[in-house]
Amino acid sequence: MFEKLLAKAKIARKNAYSPFSKFQVGASILSSNNNYYVGSSIENPSFSQTLCAEASAIAAMVTAGERKIKTILVVGGDDNLCFPCGGCRQKIKEFSYDETKIYVVNGLDQYKIFSIDELLPNAFTFSPKN
Ligand code: THU
Repeated sequence: MFEKLLAKAKIARKNAYSPFSKFQVGASILSSNNNYYVGSSIENPSFSQTLCAEASAIAAMVTAGERKIKTILVVGGDDNLCFPCGGCRQKIKEFSYDETKIYVVNGLDQYKIFSIDELLPNAFTFSPKN
């Protein structure tokens, strides 16, 4: 499972559009229905319009009608583990279980695994009343 997620995320990473930072990121998701989704980082000259790889993968999953992430993997290209940014932690939280596994991987295929509560303790949640 890790190998397959990593291979898919690396392909997504190759397709990342990062002319500004030159830092490419890829993400892959194994959903609760055992389907795979991928996303690439997509930059923009209006920098705040940049889309993270995780957000891109989550968009693909939700667009396909799915709502839960079993495992998500994020891979960068240098020797630092590629952690999701703060905004992506909140986005992952919305579609995670307590048991969802988050693999953070570097360009050397080294990785660590976290839960969303480890990466985003005391997360903001909101339950509509109706
Ligand atoms: N990036 C991601 O794709 N995910 C993150 O969680 C953090 C940052 C991308 C966005 C941008 O293209 C590049 O990394 C440098 O910030």
